[in-house]
Amino acid sequence: MGGITDETERAASNKVKRMDKITLSVLCDNSAAMKEGIRAEHGFSILIERGNTKVLFDTGQSDVFWHNADVMGKDLSSIDTVVLSHGHYDHTGGLLSLARSSVNVQVIAHRDVFVARYKKQKDGSLKYIGCPYTQAYLESRGINFKFVTPHYEVAPDIFYVSEVPQANDFEKGDPLLVVKDEKGLSVRDPFMDDASLYIKTPQGLVVILGCSHRGVVNILEHILTLAGNVPILTVVGGTHLSRVDPRQTKKTIEALKGMNIQTIGVSHCTGLEAADEMKRSFGKRFFRAMAGVVITIYEKGGVVLQ
Ligand SMILES: [Fe+2]
Ligand SMILES: [Fe+2]
Repeated sequence: MGGITDETERAASNKVKRMDKITLSVLCDNSAAMKEGIRAEHGFSILIERGNTKVLFDTGQSDVFWHNADVMGKDLSSIDTVVLSHGHYDHTGGLLSLARSSVNVQVIAHRDVFVARYKKQKDGSLKYIGCPYTQAYLESRGINFKFVTPHYEVAPDIFYVSEVPQANDFEKGDPLLVVKDEKGLSVRDPFMDDASLYIKTPQGLVVILGCSHRGVVNILEHILTLAGNVPILTVVGGTHLSRVDPRQTKKTIEALKGMNIQTIGVSHCTGLEAADEMKRSFGKRFFRAMAGVVITIYEKGGVVLQ
């Protein structure tokens, strides 16, 4: 009898221990941290671990995320779920690596993730930048898709958010990123599928962004509306400020400062100039979330970077 109680207590205390932190491992980014063997690639992928839950958010554009996970000692064979932030090739191209592995996962996304997407070139032509594979092909290779509602609990206290309202007047989206309308004419990509994740902790929220095509301020304000006006402990991911007018960057940073974000780590499409601007504004609360960086968020407070 005593043995059972001990075992139960040990299991209970282990559970508390396992749930007391969130680990975010950046597996793919445009820049690589100065760590041996880590590769950079234009794209984004991040592994979220909390207790026994493992969620992979985006897959980069190739198998670089898988290589970096190996170098970082992260086992992707036990991933529960993959979530896609949107349909661009630099977030979805790595899906085939999952199919080639023995991992049998469910991929969560917005149903627009396979919409054909393009980038306008200087000569006016359109370059395809959508998912490199069709849904049917990926399914034939053993990947299962689940198209979810715009606010969906992926795992306990880990929420997916898409179809973010474009509420402010300065985050207007990128005019070079387009889709084709029914007449075949290019129109601005509405990015209804642009998705982020937020994790609820006792101290506040951890937010993970993909490309922020609907606007990073719009996204964070929408998440605060959904989650309640609680503190934001950490924001990590792409903010798509690399091609915007400096005046917009300024407005974005001002709005972010007003949100009392405790730490912010930018990746991917943020751009070096905007990242430098943020570093000046956020000081020690700022970091670059490059490939190879591991962010540990302790639920009793504190963020540790490795
Ligand atoms: Fe991207
Ligand atoms: Fe994108």
